[in-house]
Amino acid sequence: MLKISNVSKKFGGIHALEGVCLTLEKGKIWSIIGPNGAGKTTLFNLITGTIPADSGKIEFMGEDITYMKPHEICRKGIARTYQQKNLFPNLSVFDNVIAGMLKDSIEEQGRKKKVYEILKFLGLEEVEKETVSSLPPLDCKLVELGRALATDPKLILLDELIGGLITTETEKICKIVETLRDKGYTIFQIGHEIRPIMKTSNWIFVLDEGRKIAEGLPEEIRNNKDVHEVYLE
Ligand SMILES: Nc1ncnc2c1ncn2[C@@H]1O[C@H](COP(=O)(O)OP(=O)(O)OP(=O)(O)O)[C@@H](O)[C@H]1O
Ligand SMILES: [Mg+2]
Repeated sequence: MLKISNVSKKFGGIHALEGVCLTLEKGKIWSIIGPNGAGKTTLFNLITGTIPADSGKIEFMGEDITYMKPHEICRKGIARTYQQKNLFPNLSVFDNVIAGMLKDSIEEQGRKKKVYEILKFLGLEEVEKETVSSLPPLDCKLVELGRALATDPKLILLDELIGGLITTETEKICKIVETLRDKGYTIFQIGHEIRPIMKTSNWIFVLDEGRKIAEGLPEEIRNNKDVHEVYLE
């Protein structure tokens, strides 16, 4: 579904990504872990077209998207959530979610129906009229996910959606992510909290200083010496 070949990105003297290659198949939960500054968010920025790659190639469903614009990539079926909260703080939950749908030409009633379906799935119906700035962190994360779902994606990139929450909230997010996978979405997530990442992922990539240092099943990553050295200890 997504093929990243030899992708590199420099910011001044910093090699944020160096010759990264990854392949994601459809319908699974793929994760990237790695220390702060490893290049994880930069990779998502390259995939979604927010920042251009210096070199390399990114293909989505067989099509070269390396230098496409963010809105074109979104239309192709890639949506994302952000590490830093990136919502319209003064708009309601409903309006934040429908914002993801504005690229669609479907009529008003159809759009509203779709938003309500998403809010119901995420358990946000009761707060649909609340202003986002008044919401607790878990609900904000769910609204970000709702807006991503509103774009009708095939592949969803989640930048630390799991993270910064209490255990029961993390479990709730993990369940939602697994349900999305079971519905046929492909998930590519970045995470710092190793336990939920190990539990939910079908496959894990490990980045360190812009390079992929390992990939494998959660068990293989847990027992990988190089990964322990840079990250798990
Ligand atoms: N727009 C930018 N301009 C300059 N430097 C950047 C930019 N974006 C990222 N960097 C640098 O590139 C490197 C990789 O950053 P990135 O945000 O991708 O790391 P990360 O793995 O997501 O880290 P974290 O776990 O802290 O979120 C860092 O050294 C960072 O300071
Ligand atoms: Mg990051």
